[in-house]
Amino acid sequence: MSKKKRCLMIGAGGMAGGWIRRFYPRFNERHEIVGLVDIDADVLRQAGDYLGLPSDRQFTDMSKAFEEIEADYCTIVIPPAYHKDAVMLAVEHKLDILSEKPIADTWEASVDIYRAVKEANLKMLVIQNYRYSSRMLTMRKVLRDGILGRTNYIVGRFGADYREYGAWGAFRHEIPHSLLVEGAVHHLDMIRNLSAGDCKTIAGWEWNSPWSSFKGECNNLYVMDMSNGVKGSYEGSGMGAASQNSWHQEYYRAECEDGAVAIGRDGVTRIYRHTAGTGMIIEDVPSVQPEFDGHQWLIDEFLTWLDGGRTPDTVLDENIKSVAMVFGAIEASGSNQSVDVESMVKDIVEAE
Ligand SMILES: NC(=O)c1ccc[n+]([C@@H]2O[C@H](COP(=O)([O-])OP(=O)(O)OC[C@H]3O[C@@H](n4cnc5c(N)ncnc54)[C@H](O)[C@@H]3O)[C@@H](O)[C@H]2O)c1
Repeated sequence: MSKKKRCLMIGAGGMAGGWIRRFYPRFNERHEIVGLVDIDADVLRQAGDYLGLPSDRQFTDMSKAFEEIEADYCTIVIPPAYHKDAVMLAVEHKLDILSEKPIADTWEASVDIYRAVKEANLKMLVIQNYRYSSRMLTMRKVLRDGILGRTNYIVGRFGADYREYGAWGAFRHEIPHSLLVEGAVHHLDMIRNLSAGDCKTIAGWEWNSPWSSFKGECNNLYVMDMSNGVKGSYEGSGMGAASQNSWHQEYYRAECEDGAVAIGRDGVTRIYRHTAGTGMIIEDVPSVQPEFDGHQWLIDEFLTWLDGGRTPDTVLDENIKSVAMVFGAIEASGSNQSVDVESMVKDIVEAE
């Protein structure tokens, strides 16, 4: 086995707490957290002590950590508005990057990150853990195996009742475009994942409800045209009071040549197969059970990639196409026009 990879961990609380305590320990033979950063000194100390890190390896100042810690890569698990700061330091110190979604909180920052990482020839993988849950691997397999023939269109729904301020973590109730930037980035990426196409154009709206607990937009209704002719539609709501399709319970349906496949709250992938004259046959699909699930799938892929293995599907070059859907959607809403997402991506890739 190759040498353990040394990780500088940016973020210690919130989701980063989950990384430190739940996702990473399984990989202790393959990597080691050698430095930790968080602006909250209490959170930092608690997580640092849990990891057994001496105090001179715990930092409230990100740039000092990059200066002092020798590492092979960094993991970024802080709010999106600070991702660019961390990536630019990683680029300066030549560290590969494993980052939480979204790439950044604006298209401009995402493009800056893309350019800097490409120019420095570093590896960057972006977390899209929902692709690799058992439930979505099962649905994707039905489509990728062509069990129902060609895909016609895909519908996605996320609905969570976040009427109380802070129900979705305080910062998400404060930022602009909160559902698109923090939530729909998963769902739009899933439409790419399920359709096996990239987004050509997107149209629709994001808006805030006057009675909401959000300062930014927490409702989304969008339609999109994918590069392989598949159409997509997305309903997202942070104020959803009807059937909840919250995290890990999202609703997806693909209408196909020979029937449909769908998944909802109960997590069972079902095929609705067309049969001539005899009505519909409904089949429960046995679930795919991956060795690594969600975040751990991506950690495994990243460490394998650093060792010269296969390039994962959600690397920066690919994930920029999902993030372009988010910022294309923001522009579409503001301009009341459909937006050419393909050109947004082409412009930055060709400028390289
Ligand atoms: N993939 C998923 O399922 C999933 C789920 C939740 C969050 N996330 C992502 O994780 C990231 C963090 O989200 P969160 O919910 O943990 O946020 P959070 O507000 O809970 O913050 C996480 C930690 O970052 C620290 N922090 C904030 N700004 C910092 C800075 N400039 N430098 C160093 N530390 C800083 C905070 O003190 C906190 O301990 C976001 O990118 C978010 O989108 C992903």
